[in-house]
Amino acid sequence: MGKLPDERAVVMAVQNFKGGVSKSTTAKHLADYLALRGYKVLVVDCDPQASMSVMFDVNLEALVEEVHTLSNFLSPRIDEADSLRKTIRKTAWPNIDICPANLGLQDTEWELTATIEEGPTAIAGAFRMLRVGLEEIRLDYDVVILDPPPAMGFLGVNTLTAADGLLIPVPARQLDYLSTIHFMQTCREAMELVSKFDTSIDYGFIRVVCTMFQPSRTNEAQMLQVMEKTYAGQMLSTPILLSEEIKNAGLAMSSIYEVNKPYGSHQTYVRCRDNLNMVFREIEKDICKQWPSRMAQVGTDRLTEAV
Ligand SMILES: Nc1ncnc2c1ncn2[C@@H]1O[C@H](COP(=O)(O)OP(=O)(O)O)[C@@H](O)[C@H]1O
Ligand SMILES: [Mg+2]
Repeated sequence: MGKLPDERAVVMAVQNFKGGVSKSTTAKHLADYLALRGYKVLVVDCDPQASMSVMFDVNLEALVEEVHTLSNFLSPRIDEADSLRKTIRKTAWPNIDICPANLGLQDTEWELTATIEEGPTAIAGAFRMLRVGLEEIRLDYDVVILDPPPAMGFLGVNTLTAADGLLIPVPARQLDYLSTIHFMQTCREAMELVSKFDTSIDYGFIRVVCTMFQPSRTNEAQMLQVMEKTYAGQMLSTPILLSEEIKNAGLAMSSIYEVNKPYGSHQTYVRCRDNLNMVFREIEKDICKQWPSRMAQVGTDRLTEAV
């Protein structure tokens, strides 16, 4: 399973500006799914709200911001010799590590923004800090999952610049759909801006996934059709269904892959899990296609059965 030792980890950002579209929930479930499939995963929490860190049971109170969090190497005020590796910690999952965030990351956002005063070289440096930081661990993991902040500041641009692929969660609601169109536009502008300072970014894949979908609601079903037209070729074929199982697991800050006992009936749980497995299997194929050693295998659809 996974890449060859000399191949590089695939970095993907689960990104959208909007809060509450299921970014962190999707990223957490994707990380757990990939871990169950045997991949080695690093989760990088890039959101000062730190919900991914909480979902992986990081004790935020015990973190020293400048040593243990992403601020450690993103902050221009901190010694350049500091490495990303220092901030990585183990989780309860044997094959998932996390680079945690905390509220202090917001200060880092402002510090990065202040580089605007220092001219193009400093700005280019501030855009690509995460990408550079990840270089040293690219051979150690199969997949790196970024949970970006819900805004396109310097942190948001850093995650876009660091990613090889994007997964964009969008609920089938008009406001979320419209804000995603805006998000895509802003992404393009941000990428153009980055390419003025740096080499341009060429994503291996950009995928849109409909989240929190309720098929029985006519307006959502119609919205899904609109999304499928707008994002033809990019839309994952299965939407993530709205599920009490996911909601309740979320309240307990865990994923449905972690719960010992389903909240509802066994059948509801299995339906929810099958749905997520189907969605993530598509992403898994996109990820495998990034590794030359696995590309042929994906082409002939010889990925082993899902969990
Ligand atoms: N498929 C789903 N079914 C039910 N509830 C969900 C689902 N996806 C997300 N949620 C809930 O919606 C809320 C927002 O999700 P979250 O992942 O925190 O969004 P974001 O990271 O985009 O702000 C959380 O309470 C989460 O538990
Ligand atoms: Mg979030």
